[in-house]
Amino acid sequence: MGIFQKIFGSKDASENSSASFINPIQVEFHSHLIFGVDDGCETIDQSIELLRKFADMGMRKVITTPHVMSDFYKNNRQNIYPLRDAIRQRLKEENIDLEFEAAAEYMIDDGFENKIQEGNLLTFGPENKHILVELPFMTEPRNLNSSLFELQIAGYKPILAHPERYLYYATEKEKYHELKDRGILLQLNMLSCIGYYSKPVADAAQYLVDNNLVDLVGSDTHHMRHMQLLPQVLLNKTYQKACKAELLNNFL
Ligand SMILES: [Fe+2]
Repeated sequence: MGIFQKIFGSKDASENSSASFINPIQVEFHSHLIFGVDDGCETIDQSIELLRKFADMGMRKVITTPHVMSDFYKNNRQNIYPLRDAIRQRLKEENIDLEFEAAAEYMIDDGFENKIQEGNLLTFGPENKHILVELPFMTEPRNLNSSLFELQIAGYKPILAHPERYLYYATEKEKYHELKDRGILLQLNMLSCIGYYSKPVADAAQYLVDNNLVDLVGSDTHHMRHMQLLPQVLLNKTYQKACKAELLNNFL
């Protein structure tokens, strides 16, 4: 397609909603951009490079969410906040116009309920009540229900990261509806829409979107390879359909 067709559209483009799609998402809230603390960015330069790309994509705020797991990633406020502050300083020095916050992506594992009791969880959102949680990929954790219940009675608003990636739910789709009915917010990974993880994950993503089960979208960016695929996601019909729902991203 020539440059003018790209800008002004064409007959073909008018039949293709991709051409006129403008991404409505201005707040990206699932990524691994705190350097050196998990399987995401390794250096501050990588963090800044990815944040610059998010700003170029039109994001006004990025809330990054390093993994917290009892065994592997023992991250907490004490180690995350100083690194967040160092990144904020670099953003300022490099004139990158972006609000930058740090929270966490908590694995619901055996140690998670202790963390709830201790309080001090890393949260975000308008009342600082939203919390991002993830599950193991192979089996549903035995303390899933109790953990979600304890979070909710403590006043948190749990967001389940990438439900489409837990394939034990793909074969038991009523689970998605049960979680929604219990007030759990569901976050779709953008890359799931283009089949980045697998075909079954893409199919589960399609199911969530078609059934209006998605509350938020997130990039789950760990590194530049993820970032380089995001333009492709913006052209994807499943992602575009997800964005037609009333997503909560821009209220975070
Ligand atoms: Fe993640």
